[in-house]
Amino acid sequence: MEIKNDLQIKSFAEYKKVYKQSTENPEEFWNQVAEKFTWKKRWDNTLAYDFNKPEVSWFSGGKLNITENCLDRHLKTQPNRNAIIWEPNNPNEESRHITYRQLYVKVCQFANVLKNNGIKKGDRVCLYMPMIPELVVAMLACARIGAIHSVVFAGFSSTALSSRINDSSSKLLITANEYYRGTKAIPLKEICDEALKNYNTIEKVIVYRRTINEVSMQKNRDVYWFDELQKVDLEAPAETMDAEDPLFILYTSGSTGKPKGMVHTTGGYMVGTTYSFQNVFQPEPEDRYWCTADIGWITGHSYIVYGPLLAGVTSVMFEGVPSYPDYGRFWEIIEKFKITHFYTAPTAIRSLAKQPLSHIEKHNLNSLKVLGSVGEPINEEAWHWFNDNIGKSHCPIVDTWWQTETGSIMISPLAGITSTRPCFASLPLPGVQPALLDENGKEIIFNGQKAEGSLAIKAPWPAMARTVWNDHQRYKDVYFSAYPGMYFTGDGAYRDATGNYRITGRVDDVVIVSGHNLGTAPIENAINEHEKVAESAIVGYPHEVKGNALYAYVILFNPDDASDELRQEIKQEITRTIGAIAKPDKIQFVKELPKTRSGKIMRRILRKIASKDVSNLGDTSTLLNGNIIDDIIQNTI
Ligand code: WTA
Repeated sequence: MEIKNDLQIKSFAEYKKVYKQSTENPEEFWNQVAEKFTWKKRWDNTLAYDFNKPEVSWFSGGKLNITENCLDRHLKTQPNRNAIIWEPNNPNEESRHITYRQLYVKVCQFANVLKNNGIKKGDRVCLYMPMIPELVVAMLACARIGAIHSVVFAGFSSTALSSRINDSSSKLLITANEYYRGTKAIPLKEICDEALKNYNTIEKVIVYRRTINEVSMQKNRDVYWFDELQKVDLEAPAETMDAEDPLFILYTSGSTGKPKGMVHTTGGYMVGTTYSFQNVFQPEPEDRYWCTADIGWITGHSYIVYGPLLAGVTSVMFEGVPSYPDYGRFWEIIEKFKITHFYTAPTAIRSLAKQPLSHIEKHNLNSLKVLGSVGEPINEEAWHWFNDNIGKSHCPIVDTWWQTETGSIMISPLAGITSTRPCFASLPLPGVQPALLDENGKEIIFNGQKAEGSLAIKAPWPAMARTVWNDHQRYKDVYFSAYPGMYFTGDGAYRDATGNYRITGRVDDVVIVSGHNLGTAPIENAINEHEKVAESAIVGYPHEVKGNALYAYVILFNPDDASDELRQEIKQEITRTIGAIAKPDKIQFVKELPKTRSGKIMRRILRKIASKDVSNLGDTSTLLNGNIIDDIIQNTI
């Protein structure tokens, strides 16, 4: 069954009508959407929730398997359409085209491999893999048998990997021997071995051979993907899942402490990702949609894997980087596959905008219909560059605001339907009820006036995360305590007189660097691990390409130890415990950090100093040690 056309809103008038219906009667609205899917048993209760507990359930009593909706359903209508087109890192290697039928077979076969290796419904499986189709196969194979996948971004360090493995108590780890990103070889299996050196919950490791190089394999623990395939059947029944059974865990950084394993469940996530994909991108059956995100992040989960496959669209996947073999690679890929939808991040746009236009001019980009941006606020200059040079002023840009926690796009134009404006994520999707809150936590009701405040969401939506793995209290504390009765996003926003939203950035201690969410606390913890470091504070400051970069203020036990060498050691410590993405651009050694009388570091002031914006530091007289500020300013890097 084609579910496309009857899910897509087709005009702005229709959007307004549907939006109104969706907020007046959310249950009826989402029932109509959910009915378009294959359920083994219909749900009993569309929505039950209490944001104070907090508890949310959608479509409870419903039984389904999401892979029947991603795969089996399309076998009847379009078995030979490409589900995935894959472009390797090295342009001289063959690309791969995998039809819906082929993907179905691969998923079933690998589902049997998982079972053969002791995986049952409810078990956690950790995936630490490059951007190859087998990552999608492994995710869907988990879903096929009801195992919960936990994908860890392959750029994370062994320490970050092992903490995620143990937090989720994953039994199985799936990885590759190694792979290339640009010219760099990444020894994935070696990193896994390092992660598994100490106590861990892993019983088996399945290794996909991405390159011909040999890696060490531990007897009775490590097996090769290909060898395992030889042992199993091609048919795998789809496990019956409850709508509220967990589908996956995905870790995101928090402003404090360890990463949070956000738990997404099956029914609501399926309905929410498909509905948003269909409406934001407005794909047609023959389109080739390409999202450049890594599957290790939520954008990849929802809009490379689940959304497009649920919608039966061809999803293009790229293993490499935009700069290899040269800065024309993205444009070459768009021409090669006649990409219609190109969804990327502002940081990529900014870095490509710095390159000569000749990289673009060599390629025919006429196939493009829709452009998308995600992950951080897109600045005006980047928006215009993208619009003029890539979209040639005829492709709508959908600036999609959402989060790991929201699961699906929340605020965004609908391509070709909502009028777009640089830097505005514009209007909420049907079923999404945003609220702006003033500093007292009071909602600023929309009355045709401009307003700015903290962004919260007033009512549940199907794809929202249901909890933090093993830590429901943290879920409550982080998202439902700041403004009781509402979900707090951690973002600030501006709303113009027409009700359009512009996201202004984080209002908590998360810094978004090159589109990656980085909590300041884990980075500070990593710095403090160094034996010469007494204390540290990390803040973000504006960066031309990355959006934000990190600035570290570090207090040493012995100030005479300050040196560039020590800066390198601190960076290495961060790379080792978190990953290279969390390395600060600047490290300033300071004698003290400005603190409130209750001992809290005044990050607001440090942020301003790092941004070289010291004209108005506000009232510093209440600080415990306001006298140290001048010294910090004088030694700013
Ligand atoms: C930011 C990524 C402005 C925001 C999907 C959010 C954005 C955080 C946008 C979530 C956008 C995401 N405009 N800011 N279009 N999209 N953000 O969990 O601060 O990796 O809270 O999810 O990215 O990042 P996450």
